[in-house]
Amino acid sequence: MDALGSKIDISKLFLHRKLFLVWILVVFFPFALVIALFSGQSSLIEGIVGTSVPQQSYSSSIVDGLDAPAPKPVMSLHVQQKVNISYDSLLHNDGVNTSSMEKKSGIQEIKGDESKVLETVKPKLKNDTAKSNLFKGKWIRDSRGPLYTNNTCAYIQGHQNCMKNGRPDMEYLYWRWKPNGQTLTRFNATLFLDLVRGKVWAFVGDSVARNQMQSLLCMLSQVEHPKTTYTDEANVNVHWYFVSYNFTLMVIWSPYLVKDTEAEFKGIPQGVIKLHLDVLDPEWVTLLPNMDAIILSTGQWFLKSGVYIMKDEVVGCHNCDKIKAEQLGFFFAFRHAIQAALNGIRLLPGFKGIAFLQTFTVDHFENGLWDSGGTCNRTVPYKKNEIKLNAVEKEMHKIVVDEFKYGTEEEAPNGSIAKLVDITYCSLLRPDGHPGKYRDSNFISKSESTQPVPNDCLHWCLPGPIDTWNEILLQMIKDI
Ligand SMILES: *[C@@H]1O[C@H](CO)[C@@H](O)[C@H](O)[C@H]1NC(C)=O
Ligand SMILES: *[C@@H]1O[C@H](CO)[C@@H](O)[C@H](O)[C@H]1NC(C)=O
Ligand SMILES: *[C@@H]1O[C@H](CO)[C@@H](O)[C@H](O)[C@H]1NC(C)=O
Ligand SMILES: *[C@@H]1O[C@H](CO)[C@@H](O)[C@H](O)[C@H]1NC(C)=O
Ligand SMILES: *[C@@H]1O[C@H](CO)[C@@H](O)[C@H](O)[C@H]1NC(C)=O
Ligand SMILES: *[C@@H]1O[C@H](CO)[C@@H](O)[C@H](O)[C@H]1NC(C)=O
Ligand SMILES: *[C@@H]1O[C@H](CO)[C@@H](O)[C@H](O)[C@H]1NC(C)=O
Ligand SMILES: *[C@@H]1O[C@H](CO)[C@@H](O)[C@H](O)[C@H]1NC(C)=O
Repeated sequence: MDALGSKIDISKLFLHRKLFLVWILVVFFPFALVIALFSGQSSLIEGIVGTSVPQQSYSSSIVDGLDAPAPKPVMSLHVQQKVNISYDSLLHNDGVNTSSMEKKSGIQEIKGDESKVLETVKPKLKNDTAKSNLFKGKWIRDSRGPLYTNNTCAYIQGHQNCMKNGRPDMEYLYWRWKPNGQTLTRFNATLFLDLVRGKVWAFVGDSVARNQMQSLLCMLSQVEHPKTTYTDEANVNVHWYFVSYNFTLMVIWSPYLVKDTEAEFKGIPQGVIKLHLDVLDPEWVTLLPNMDAIILSTGQWFLKSGVYIMKDEVVGCHNCDKIKAEQLGFFFAFRHAIQAALNGIRLLPGFKGIAFLQTFTVDHFENGLWDSGGTCNRTVPYKKNEIKLNAVEKEMHKIVVDEFKYGTEEEAPNGSIAKLVDITYCSLLRPDGHPGKYRDSNFISKSESTQPVPNDCLHWCLPGPIDTWNEILLQMIKDI
């Protein structure tokens, strides 16, 4: 708990940032192109942020440090249907007389934001989570171990390949999630592939979404090796095809779910991240009509600095003291983005599938921040009551749950359903599941070098606890 508390010490957040970036750019990240394109972005965040970091930004750079963010992919493909992705136009073309509806919004939870609320019709997706009580429970020992290893799965990204990178302890692989009052069955790749025959599934979100997609790919590839049918230059939008099952698995890079741009906007310079909170990211929305299931998984990126735009006007920002805009904080942006995504899934024509909305995933840096020597070298899970969510994690979790509740009060017109995948708590209990320094086989720690590599206490080792999230997904589709 002390350690979690210490995360909130923000004073050193931006120190060593440049050195750190140089190191990353030169040596570590696999996607050279991505990084090359990204290098412009970080310095400009510094430009806005300077050294004064307001309250809520304490870990706003975890993602900068540990993830390889993406350039805009070169194109959209397989687009069978052009859709008008303006959220506003969705609301007005929906045949619903909004003025006669209750102007209720989940946003109102956050004090002071009321004036910025985009008045919306209620998104209506059927809450089909009723049968699932999979999210409260405990980790129990399981001698069976993982379903794959670094030798049997070819799809593990270097930084998450803890086995290959020399992680010496193995105990973290011998646990399974035991939900209260029921048993979560071991992942069965044949069964999963049978259930998704002829379907298209997409993981949409940030690098944690990609992490989970790779876990699924590892488990499924024990039954059949998929073909890569599409990859963009940055390797962040990839489609895999399982021939015998006619099953397509996609990963789509969209860390904010809504449209993000760095282009100059009404006097706010190029380079500053601008989120159009009422316009969904075309990267996934254009493909939505082709999907049978979409797994939305984001959160950490919202902690970064950003300027927020709605109805084509700047409404506020987070961490932007050099820009004339109201400091609304990132909770505001996150809530709007989640709400917009759920609205889009309900209102855009053509989607009849399942939307899985995943809750916030926590990191486990201890004894420092991501950039000040924070580590995660525990080797066993926490027990119940040994750890609690910190204030930010709690609110990020709550936002997703609130918006899900709000978005599922009534059924969607064409039978699409939504399921909340509340993995926050089971993940919180697994400080032992991160790569830490085994993100690299040749880790150079803070103390050994002036250009240190941070630990990775945000993503998950593969195999590892994140395999359980897919086990939960399988359980949820079995229950439909
Ligand atoms: C999209 O919606 C906006 C707002 O309603 C409208 O002005 C625009 O013409 C629409 N674009 C297309 C391509 O339908
Ligand atoms: C929409 O609803 C409002 C309030 O019930 C009503 O006054 C208005 O006439 C309606 N507009 C249309 C186009 O039906
Ligand atoms: C979904 O519905 C179930 C059963 O009605 C309820 O127990 C659960 O709390 C709902 N979930 C949310 C997030 O609203
Ligand atoms: C898997 O990891 C082990 C160390 O645990 C290593 O010896 C082996 O070479 C790795 N296999 C591959 C294919 O990288
Ligand atoms: C996995 O699922 C397949 C297909 O339903 C079934 O035949 C097989 O027995 C299952 N395997 C295990 C270990 O349960
Ligand atoms: C494969 O699945 C798609 C839907 O995703 C369907 O349109 C197509 O007919 C299927 N192809 C075969 C060979 O079953
Ligand atoms: C629902 O289905 C009808 C008929 O296929 C279609 O016209 C309509 O656009 C669909 N609505 C949504 C929101 O998908
Ligand atoms: C874990 O890391 C801390 C420093 O962050 C160190 O003091 C401790 O000895 C380490 N524990 C193990 C088991 O390596």
